[in-house]
Amino acid sequence: MKKYNVCIVGGGSTYTLGFLKSFARMQNEFPLNKLVLFDIDADRQKPIGQYGDIMFAERYPELDFSYTTDPKEAYEGMDFIFMQMRAGGLKMRQQDEHIPLSMGKIGQETCGAGGMAYGMRSCKDMIAAIYDIRKYAPDAWVLNYSNPAAIVAEALRREFPNDTRILNICDQPENVVRSTSRLLGCNWEDLDPVYFGLNHYGWFTHIYDRKTGEDLLPKVREIVKEKGFLPQDAEQRDQSWLDTYGFVKTMLEDFPDYLPNTYDGYYLYPEYKASHLDPNFTRADEVMAGRESRVFKECAEIIKEGKLGDKFDAISDAHAEMMIKVAEAIAFNTNERFILIVENNGAICNMQDDAMVEVVCELGINGPRPMRVGNIDQFYLGLLVQQVSAEKLLVDAFFEHSYKKALMAFTLNRLVNDAKVARKLLDALIEANGDMWPELK
Ligand code: G6P
Ligand code: MN
Repeated sequence: MKKYNVCIVGGGSTYTLGFLKSFARMQNEFPLNKLVLFDIDADRQKPIGQYGDIMFAERYPELDFSYTTDPKEAYEGMDFIFMQMRAGGLKMRQQDEHIPLSMGKIGQETCGAGGMAYGMRSCKDMIAAIYDIRKYAPDAWVLNYSNPAAIVAEALRREFPNDTRILNICDQPENVVRSTSRLLGCNWEDLDPVYFGLNHYGWFTHIYDRKTGEDLLPKVREIVKEKGFLPQDAEQRDQSWLDTYGFVKTMLEDFPDYLPNTYDGYYLYPEYKASHLDPNFTRADEVMAGRESRVFKECAEIIKEGKLGDKFDAISDAHAEMMIKVAEAIAFNTNERFILIVENNGAICNMQDDAMVEVVCELGINGPRPMRVGNIDQFYLGLLVQQVSAEKLLVDAFFEHSYKKALMAFTLNRLVNDAKVARKLLDALIEANGDMWPELK
C-alpha cells in the first residue's frame, strides 16, 4: 500500500494536536510516509512538534516526522497539504470580534465585519502560501480549511483559475450531521444529507436514512422541538458552542422548512445575537483561555515527562478525522460524499455560476463532482445572493485595492447593513490591520 507525504500548514495551531493524534489513530487506513508541520512562528510550533516527536516514537515509529519554518523543506515531495493557517493569529481574531461589537454589530470569526477583516488578511497570506507550495509541490493536493473559507475560496478561484488541486472545505455541515445522529440515536455515517448554501451559511433540505431512503428531517424537527439541539461532542464544548447549537431550535421554529447550519443564526437574528455577545469577552478570549492554554499545557506536560505512556487521548477528533477522510477519498478514489465548497456552475440552478457554494459532492482522484440541488426558494436565494455579493465585492476590493468596493461589501453584509456604520467599521479595521491588509485607495 502506498504511503503518503503530508504537510500541515499552521503547525502551531490549537487544532494540530488533534491531527497528530488522528494520524496516529488512522495509520492503517491512511498510512503516512512523512508528516511535516510548517509554521511561520517557530516558537509556537515547537512544543507541538516536540509532542509529536514523543508520541510518534511510541505510536508510529516508522513515520518520518518533522517540523520546520522553511517552505522548501515543508512542501517538497508532498502529496497532501492541509492548510489551517490563521492570518494574524488569535490576537487578530480578538480584534475582529471586539471592534464590531464595540459599535453594536456582531463580532464573529467568519461572519460580518470581523469575518471580512479576517478575509482580507487570509487572502493575502493564502495566495502567497499557494505560490510557495506550487513552487515546490506542483501536483500536491491542497486541502484548505483556513478561514473565512468562503472568501478565501473566492480569492483562490480568481488567482489560480486553472489549479484543479485546491479543495476548500469546512467541517461545520458534517458537525451538524453528526449532531443530528446523536439526536436520532444512529450512526452519523448512516445519514445521507442534501445541503445547499455558502460556507457558514446553508441549510439541509433533507436528511435521508442511507439504508431505507426515509427522509428523517420531520423526525429531527419534532425531536429538536422537544429536546433542543446539542453538538455531537457536547461534553467537550465550551458554553458558547452549546448556546450556538441550542439556537437551532429557535431557527427551526421560525423557519421550519430546513435544518439550518449553526452559523445561520448570526444572519437571521443579527440584532438579537449582537445584544447577547459580550463585547469584552468573545469567543477568541474563550479560546485563548480554554483550548489554547489546554493544548500548550498538555504539550508541556508530555515534554517534561518525555513519554506519553498510556496518556493517549481516546476521544475522537471529528474535525481532523473528516479532513483525513477527505484526503483518503482522493487518494483511494472512493467517490465518497462530502459537503464541499465548489464553483456553482449550475449546482444551485438559480444562483450565478461563479459563486463558490457549499453542496454535497462526490469526491475522488479527479476532485469533487457536485450534486445538483435545483432551484432554491426566494427567501434563501435572497439571503445568499446578498451574501455572495458582499463576499465578491470584498475580494474585488482586495485585488483592486479599492476602498469603494470594500465599503460596498461592508454595506451589503447583513451583519453591518448601513453605510455610515460600514464606513466607521471599515476605517477602524483598516487601522487595526495595518499592513496585514492591502492598502485601500
Ligand atoms: C467550526 C467552523 C470553523 C471554525 C471553528 C471555530 O469548526 O467550521 O470554520 O474555525 O468552528 O471554532 P472555535 O472553537 O475556534 O471558535
Ligand atoms: Mn468552517
